[in-house]
Amino acid sequence: MCGIVGYAGKKQVLPILMDGIRNLEYRGYDSAGFAIIEPNGKIKSVKSVGKISALEEKINGTEVNGTTGIIHSRWATHGGVTEANAHPHHDCSGSIWLVHNGIIENYKELKSHLVKKGHKFTSETDTEVVAHLIEEIKKSQKLTLPEAVALALRQIKGTYGLAIIDSHNPGQLIAARNFSPLLVGIGDGEYLVASDASAVIKHTRRVIYLNDGEYAVLSPDGFEVYTLSSRPVKKDIKQLDWDMEVAKKDGFAHFMLKEINSQPEAIENSIRGRLIADEGMAKLGGLESIKEKLRDVKRLHIVGCGTAYLAGKVGEYMLEEYAQIPVKTEVGSEFRYKKPVFEKGDALLAISQSGETADTLAAIREAKEKGVLTLGIVNAVGSSIARDTDAGVYQHIGPEIGVASTKAFTSQVTILSLLTLFLGRQRAMSLVMGQRIAGEIKKLPALIKEILKTDSQIKKMSQKYSKYGNFLYLGRKYNLPAAFEGALKIKEISYVHAEGLGAGEMKHGPLAMIDNNFPSVVIVPKDSVYEKNISNIQELKARGGPVLAIATKGDKEISKLADDVIYIPKTLEMLTPVLAVVPLQIFAYHFGTMKGYDVDKPRNLAKSVTVE
Ligand code: G6P
Repeated sequence: MCGIVGYAGKKQVLPILMDGIRNLEYRGYDSAGFAIIEPNGKIKSVKSVGKISALEEKINGTEVNGTTGIIHSRWATHGGVTEANAHPHHDCSGSIWLVHNGIIENYKELKSHLVKKGHKFTSETDTEVVAHLIEEIKKSQKLTLPEAVALALRQIKGTYGLAIIDSHNPGQLIAARNFSPLLVGIGDGEYLVASDASAVIKHTRRVIYLNDGEYAVLSPDGFEVYTLSSRPVKKDIKQLDWDMEVAKKDGFAHFMLKEINSQPEAIENSIRGRLIADEGMAKLGGLESIKEKLRDVKRLHIVGCGTAYLAGKVGEYMLEEYAQIPVKTEVGSEFRYKKPVFEKGDALLAISQSGETADTLAAIREAKEKGVLTLGIVNAVGSSIARDTDAGVYQHIGPEIGVASTKAFTSQVTILSLLTLFLGRQRAMSLVMGQRIAGEIKKLPALIKEILKTDSQIKKMSQKYSKYGNFLYLGRKYNLPAAFEGALKIKEISYVHAEGLGAGEMKHGPLAMIDNNFPSVVIVPKDSVYEKNISNIQELKARGGPVLAIATKGDKEISKLADDVIYIPKTLEMLTPVLAVVPLQIFAYHFGTMKGYDVDKPRNLAKSVTVE
């Protein structure tokens, strides 16, 4: 996601900020900017859309002096990719400047309150509201900057990593954190703030990690950490023993593993502010403007490629069962050429992490050509698909760097469950059913955390199965697409042949291949098709085929039948793919690394496929 670097010390700050933000480039971004307190007490800020090099070009030749400053690389969430929306943002007086990672959920309410008080906003971002709120509190209550920051943050709902400077307090830097990573590097008479250790490591290995709801006041004279109720907190100084490459991966060996492990947080970000659990509803801001049009949708075409297509397939099952909307899901590359038949009341939903996949984009254009309403579930804000669709929902999961998609899939399926709630409650879904679904969606991050704890057990499993060169991945109903996704993961990163299959289709051909050298991975949670799956496992065992089952915790029967079992927690049937796919990602990850492959960059594949 976005990158933050801040510095308060005695050295010239600009080269330190530029170097720090370059180390965060790998996270992906669309614009960048800095603010520095100059010796004359004024703030110098420069922003630019595009690469850090564009920012460097812009300042080329201009002298910027100062020893306190902040810099940011933005991955847009609220507001398009423009210079005005790039950070840092400032208050009306131009003295308070800040950079922010995360999402301010109640920014609309806060903004309208501040506008009434006369504040003038210059961007479309949620972030700017924080600068004005601090200004308002500081002025009206005659407080110091740290006091005003604490009071302002108590009014904010949402997530933040913040670095704040004020020209009235030269030399001071404030950092605050709530569910967005932020650490403080402790040097000799100098302090750095960063969203990621890789921006700090060159200057110091001594760091403190802020906890949620804490803020730090830093200056060359020292540092203090407080809670938002201004209680001082004693922090332990930790020693970073990572090298730069490991730091970028948050200590994980690969981006893919980091992304697998970040799924609880990613899903949290995808659902934040969108679930109204007690009303059994989903609030999807991006669809508000077409809410009434959505009532008239009679049929939905879902389009995506690769993993995004498979997420769409899960959505098809959800939307048909709970929103009673007929859904047809297709890969973009087929959709664009097959002359799809559209009828009145049709809408098209495109799903894409990058928002740039050529075949998906072409499908949208085809539908638009025919006057069909187009929607998107997209991660990259301002991407082609986000711009080309009439309305949509952003995933808010930050960039996915590993070529094999992981967190994008679980987030897309989760958003599809929100969409099912949204459209279902517009139609026949009862309040009780809505509440039930919403309640279960809320639990997903915690349930994924449980699965992540079984990594070493799954690793042993991939060691055991690494001798095989072919796999069947079987599932039914909601977990049919999850089986395909499991097979896709192992193909992508370990170059081993794996075939996803509806378990019911096994007898119509593929069963002929099964012998004791051909294992199957069967997704068999305790759901409405459990007994059917059990019969299929029996058929596999009768032919000597090894079986690795993904089953629901507490299922004793399965351990007697399958050779090996990985357990996942219980959830609503429609949400099981979000859980079932996680052990399959981990299984594939270890399978690929064991073979010595670069799992982040599999051979022959690209992260974003912008050609046909
Ligand atoms: C590529 C990636 C896949 C991804 C697919 C669709 O093939 O390697 O991981 O699922 O494109 O990408 P999108 O950005 O549209 O989700």
